[in-house]
Amino acid sequence: MRTQVAIIGAGPAGLLLSHLLHLRGISSVVLEKRSRDYVERRVRAGVLEQGTVDTLIEAGVGERMLREGLPHHGIELRYGGAGHRIPFEKLVPGRSITVYGQQEVVKDLIAARLAAGGDIRFEVEDVALHSLESEPYVTFGGERLDCDVIAGCDGFHGVSRPAIPEGVLTVFEKDYPFAWLGILAEVAPSSEELIYTRTERGFALHSMRSPTVSRFYLQVPADAQLEEWPDERIWGELKARLESVPGFTLATGDIVERGITPMRAFVAEPMQYGRLHLAGDAAHIVPPTGAKGLNLAVADVRVLTDALAAYFEDGSTEPLDGYSRACLKRVWRAQHFSWWMTTLLHTFDEDDAYARRLQLSYLDYVTSSEAAATTLAENYVGLPY
Ligand code: FAD
Ligand code: DHB
Repeated sequence: MRTQVAIIGAGPAGLLLSHLLHLRGISSVVLEKRSRDYVERRVRAGVLEQGTVDTLIEAGVGERMLREGLPHHGIELRYGGAGHRIPFEKLVPGRSITVYGQQEVVKDLIAARLAAGGDIRFEVEDVALHSLESEPYVTFGGERLDCDVIAGCDGFHGVSRPAIPEGVLTVFEKDYPFAWLGILAEVAPSSEELIYTRTERGFALHSMRSPTVSRFYLQVPADAQLEEWPDERIWGELKARLESVPGFTLATGDIVERGITPMRAFVAEPMQYGRLHLAGDAAHIVPPTGAKGLNLAVADVRVLTDALAAYFEDGSTEPLDGYSRACLKRVWRAQHFSWWMTTLLHTFDEDDAYARRLQLSYLDYVTSSEAAATTLAENYVGLPY
């Protein structure tokens, strides 16, 4: 079997790449370890930057997002007993975010690929990458797929990055001393906009998916286990942290999904080796506080699509050679922003009273200075491409 681009992983990065390549007349085969049902149900991120929204619309896969997604023109920072709105319409006119679940993006992309006769293989076993320097190929479940280029879109725990010979990559990483417990609940959101809350008990985030479904996250210890968090404890803690302003009551409901995500930052440089190009979580991850993970995956894929189009259309290799360099600027901006948002809003055990005062002072600055609030807003909605 032969294709132009072998894509490992049917997450947002791999599926969008396959779709964008198809629009440019380039063939691909997507190899995914999990079932279609599994990837369509995997609840993860929910905030789409302006550039991500524009990309999906331009690619013809934005119809349901435009219908069902929730446009947001601000977020609230809540701390010290008060809420403070960061108004995007004032600070970054014409730019906003859309709340639309990652698995809905995945569903839309799978539907578009299959409708166009795209080749996505689910539940493939033992994917392995070979001959990365030239004439690359991929083996899986007893089959062989020859290709011109491999796109490693298989997430942080995939096989693509480890296929790069030792000594090639420089890895930068940071583990945070806490995790996020995330839940999806059948209850109308208690707020129209996202609330990022900093309290002495830790961070909490109120997000949503629809007028009847809410999404919440709680800062928990790094070694927290779901068994230690029965429903009453989750709601009790969410109320304790979110009901920190007068008159705000958190509505509760049935929890239909739950999970614990470790907080970690990671970048592997360069994002390529020979004929293998890494995109999305396979190359880098950010702590989720700035909602950048999914959006960075989309940004990588845009760059990779243009580079592959140049390569297949007129044989030029420069854009492909410069792929990693082109992506890393945005990757590091997002790393810094995510670190900054995380540091601003979480409690760290090692923080003394002085450090906590500094954190509150910085929050006061961000919510009272237009320049500082604009820095937050323009990064949150995403810097233009
Ligand atoms: P992924 O979505 O990870 O897709 C990779 C795909 O490759 C998967 O389908 C996987 O099954 C497949 N795969 C893996 N190994 C193999 C293999 N050997 N062979 C074939 N296929 C393979 N970001 C936010 O902004 N906010 C959040 O709240 C948030 N929550 C998250 C929760 C969790 C548990 C995780 C893991 C991530 C979260 N993220 C969040 C980050 C965001 O979801 C990712 O940045 C985004 O999914 C990146 O897309 P991707 O396509 O690069 O990788
Ligand atoms: C969501 C996730 C995030 O990481 C974030 O910063 C905001 C919202 C969400 O899943 O809705």
